Amino acid sequence: MQKKRQIKVCLSPALFDLYSDRKSLIVVVDILRATSAMCAAFHNGVKTITPVSTVEEALEYKSKSDYIIAAERNGEKVSGFDYGNSPIQYVKSNIKDKNLVMTTTNGTRAINIAKKDHEVVIGSFLNITALVKWLNKQNKDIIILCAGWKDDFCLEDSLFAGILSQKLLDTKFFTCFNDSAYAAIELYINSKDDIFDFLSNSQHRKRLEHLKIISDIKFCLKNDVTDIIPVLKDDKLIIINKK
Ligand code: MLT
Repeated sequence: MQKKRQIKVCLSPALFDLYSDRKSLIVVVDILRATSAMCAAFHNGVKTITPVSTVEEALEYKSKSDYIIAAERNGEKVSGFDYGNSPIQYVKSNIKDKNLVMTTTNGTRAINIAKKDHEVVIGSFLNITALVKWLNKQNKDIIILCAGWKDDFCLEDSLFAGILSQKLLDTKFFTCFNDSAYAAIELYINSKDDIFDFLSNSQHRKRLEHLKIISDIKFCLKNDVTDIIPVLKDDKLIIINKK
């Protein structure tokens, strides 16, 4: 029988050095909203997504043909950009075959931290079932990296990490020896009756509610809107399982 693979949950990018092993596959998770927006954009036809760390880097692509640029800071679209981080904006726009360059407060930063020594895949509720199936086939240990908020723990990423960990453990191909993963699973167990309600005290839900974008929160909590698997290749996210 094949050896079971390990699942670990890194609850903040600030802890990533403790987890980095140069061989695990990293699932980057920023439920509200970067990795959800990325899945929505791919599902709606975007060809590639280049995650960059700074607004200045994103602006360098402004006049390139077939590129669209997106920037979000502190939940808001940055002025001078057509797109922010709303998954619903990507669903409603004609972005087919465009290349998206994106910078966000935490999500793109987490990707850029993880990519230095690891393969990276993007996770969200929107692609969760397809992601579980794909991870099963990769024959690698997995670290779920929660993008958090400015290096701090955040509830929605952590509970998603718990759901994903539990689903992977249920396949029997994985095992777990990591307290963060078990803590994340406890959050999931406590939230599963109504995740939207469970998040009512979460800082980022409050931040987005203050900006009047509750519809984005509800969208980001939808399961299985897509079966695409975005992975990072040469600094660009592409869909690995394009039909
Ligand atoms: C981020 O990357 O920090 C987030 O996704 C923020 C947001 O979209 O509100």
